[in-house]
Amino acid sequence: FSAFLTDSFGRRHNYLRISLTEKCNLRCQYCMPEEGVKLTPRAQLLSTEEVLTLARLFVQEGVDKIRLTGGEPLIRPDVLHIIGEMRKLEGLKTIAVTTNGMNLARLLPGLKEAGVDLLNISLDSLVPAKFEFIVRRKGFHKVMEGIEKAIEMGYNPVKVNCVVMRGLNEDELLDFVALTEKKPLEVRFIEYMPFDGNKWNFKKMVSYQEMLDRIRQQWPDLESVPGGYADTAKTFKVPGFQGHIGFITSMSDNFCSSCNRLRITADGSLKVCLFGNSEVSLRDCLRSGASDEELLEIIGAAVGRKKKQHAGMFSISQMKNRPMILIGG
Ligand code: GTP
Ligand code: 5AD
Ligand code: SF4
Repeated sequence: FSAFLTDSFGRRHNYLRISLTEKCNLRCQYCMPEEGVKLTPRAQLLSTEEVLTLARLFVQEGVDKIRLTGGEPLIRPDVLHIIGEMRKLEGLKTIAVTTNGMNLARLLPGLKEAGVDLLNISLDSLVPAKFEFIVRRKGFHKVMEGIEKAIEMGYNPVKVNCVVMRGLNEDELLDFVALTEKKPLEVRFIEYMPFDGNKWNFKKMVSYQEMLDRIRQQWPDLESVPGGYADTAKTFKVPGFQGHIGFITSMSDNFCSSCNRLRITADGSLKVCLFGNSEVSLRDCLRSGASDEELLEIIGAAVGRKKKQHAGMFSISQMKNRPMILIGG
């Protein structure tokens, strides 16, 4: 495995998240301020060719999983072309997409054909009016249709991401658990995380322990299910249910020690930690004609600076970072 992608704590970064766009067709409260964010001029965003050049370089060094994020990745016009080209990279085992599901039903045949292996779909409420309040747009039924269709097309499990926020959707935990009874879904309850402009505070976060306690009141036999080494989620299942539930505990119990992720933002910056604010512009390196060797030196130096873990929820809620929409999760 490449020394350039191995950090000073021995973590091997074989999973790259590439944000394809800063735009989104929703306005989720936890992701961006109501007024939106200032978008980077188009010329400063990575082109199709630049995305593919970076993907090829990282795969050559040992990345075997790429997840496309955004903004909303499925609104980028060349998304199917990008996936189709990535599929040709030898060594890339998994292509995954995280989407808000709005355009999913329509695009699913093309995504499957182009070679998408895994789909994670955001859904924060099962009550249409509440969904619309959280995402500040209409579209609940489109997302549900996308989820249904992903299951029909054989994606298993389809992961559903639910950011749990006090006073907003915390009362829906059991309804989300019930969704896993007859469907091959993995519903992941995510602790609310702080990003620029999302008005995070400790009181709005519902911790893993609290969620688990509430679910166990209804389902005392909830079983823990072993997961993969670098999984973000701790996974469980209600005995007899087809699907699973999971908890992404970035705040109360971080999983940094097994972190295997790097990120490239839509404007081409390498971000070695979701909560790190030291970035290096791979776009600028590419545009100044850097060779693969020079790019790898720069990538290796950034990976080498990666911290052991994030600074803790109170520190990261004070630090300057990007808004989530400009990172991609
Ligand atoms: P898979 O494990 O491939 O299914 O996906 P994932 O959980 O890594 O990705 P997804 O895009 O579905 O993100 C789910 C949640 O996990 C989001 O809230 C992300 O912000 C969060 N997340 C993803 N990667 C990291 C990470 O490296 N660190 C932390 N703290 N959170 C992460
Ligand atoms: N806290 C936790 N998860 C978040 N996501 C977006 N913003 C936040 C936040 N503040 C999740 C979305 C999406 C994934 C990429 O990140 O729900 O599923
Ligand atoms: Fe990795 Fe940073 Fe997330 Fe920790 S907070 S798991 S180091 S990206």
